[in-house]
Amino acid sequence: MKALVLGLLALLLALPALAGAPELMKERMKGFEAAYLEFQTSLMRHDFTGMQGAMAKLNNQGTLPGPVRAAIRASFDDRDFGNYLRLDEYTRLMADEVTQAAQTRDAQKVLIAQGRLVMGCVQCHDGFKARATQAMERAAQAE
Ligand code: HEC
Repeated sequence: MKALVLGLLALLLALPALAGAPELMKERMKGFEAAYLEFQTSLMRHDFTGMQGAMAKLNNQGTLPGPVRAAIRASFDDRDFGNYLRLDEYTRLMADEVTQAAQTRDAQKVLIAQGRLVMGCVQCHDGFKARATQAMERAAQAE
């Protein structure tokens, strides 16, 4: 019983952190980074199955978490919010394209597709990363 109460208490204390947009975003991007590094290693080894596994890990990070979406929506105008969502969606589309290229076992095709994928990462970082980080910090303070 005591263990149960302590367990519940630990869960309750952890909840605000789970709801925090900055933490969710950092987790997701760490997942992207790990998947992308795994992909690069597989590419160097011509391990096409590994490449597909790495892209599955990238897409397993899921869509934009709700609190992150809300924080960005609150700070961006309609146009920038739309562009942000498109870049996010683009990453997932390109991860699928890399997967399809890896299925053909054609390294040239994989290279072209991964170039498009990384362009999406860089475009979002260049255009929105600093502002998105600010938006999430603002939302966390308002909590
Ligand atoms: C639609 C926008 C968007 C896209 C697309 C995107 N990122 Fe990010 N990324 C961000 C934002 C915003 C941050 C800053 C998060 C923070 O630290 O608050 C970030 C941070 C990062 C970081 C630093 C993490 C840290 O702990 O500071 C890495 C690494 C990263 N992204 C990798 C990637 C990779 C790899 C891709 C593509 C596969 C990608 N990102 C695509 C928005 C994006």
